[in-house]
Amino acid sequence: RPRVLSGIQPTAGSFHLGNYLGAVRQWVALQDSHDAFYMVVDLHAITVPQDPAELRANTRLAVAQLLAAGVDPERCTLFVQSHVPEHAQLGWVMNCLAGFGEASRMTQFKDKSAKQGSDRTTVGLFTYPLLMVADILLYQADQVPVGEDQRQHLELTRNLAERFNGTYGDTFTVPDPYILKETSKIYDLQDPSAKMSKSAATTKGLINLLDEPKATAKKVKSAVTDTDSVIRFDQVEKPGVSNLLSIYSTLTDTSVADLEQKYEGKGYGALKTDLAEVMVDFVTPFRTRTQEYLDDTETLDSILAKGAEKARAVAAETLARTYDRMGLLPVK
Ligand code: TYM
Repeated sequence: RPRVLSGIQPTAGSFHLGNYLGAVRQWVALQDSHDAFYMVVDLHAITVPQDPAELRANTRLAVAQLLAAGVDPERCTLFVQSHVPEHAQLGWVMNCLAGFGEASRMTQFKDKSAKQGSDRTTVGLFTYPLLMVADILLYQADQVPVGEDQRQHLELTRNLAERFNGTYGDTFTVPDPYILKETSKIYDLQDPSAKMSKSAATTKGLINLLDEPKATAKKVKSAVTDTDSVIRFDQVEKPGVSNLLSIYSTLTDTSVADLEQKYEGKGYGALKTDLAEVMVDFVTPFRTRTQEYLDDTETLDSILAKGAEKARAVAAETLARTYDRMGLLPVK
């Protein structure tokens, strides 16, 4: 079975709809066809300041949400990044392999650091993509299910894997991104030109999966559309409506064409009311299940302990081979 690996940050508490549709949903779908490794990337989270108690709580909360979404520790390896020290170790190797210039071209870093100002931007935020490269290469992943915003980091991963292999001999699998076109970029409901993100100026267009379902319904009903009132998928002319159609289509497993037909001659009000209902039906059990997993800390922690052990077995082997290829002297 081909191997997949992916990660999600625990930073923000609730996952948002973009995280789910762009990534986590694919994680769940790939568990049986692939040898899957999924992790909560707490070491990535500390590239910006974190309150210790909150980070700890949010890490468990992220795991609970993954379980609630259908990530099944019996069918994949689910773990927390910092439980596997090889991530930081191979991360250092990647720091020494990447050029300063190529790291400087990462657009996500440029965006985030521009917002923060250079004195508040950590060196860790700058080298963040190289830790991500290590995450992926440690497991010899064939595919990496992520949203569009991670594509450049995947390109970097491929380049560094090829560079290392070229210099030291075949060591790493060169991974492919696994990015589904329909859901690779979910947009803000109030500003359909921007991706849905926790860092948006307002939360009015952000669907947090753990929010009160009523509040979520309200956000869907007040989504920004356009003035011509035809329900048709057209990303350029009708970005708001197209975003709603993508979300609706994915959550109900209905093709966009079928939805266009269903809503022919109907107004945006009908589309939004129905989608609000679909969304409420999705988030209501999700919230309940998340809370159930969260309440049973013992089970959750033991899932993570098993996951860390399975992950470490693979990661340690890759790291040892990498060190050896580079000429780092082993302990005798
Ligand atoms: P993170 O935690 O920001 O996001 C988790 C996943 O959600 C996707 N995503 C979206 N997809 C569609 N539309 C959106 N609006 C949207 N917003 C977020 C992201 O693309 C991501 O797949 N660097 C990664 C975490 C990471 C990782 C890895 C991923 C660390 N190591 C190794 C894969 C492999 C990140 O910050 O994702």
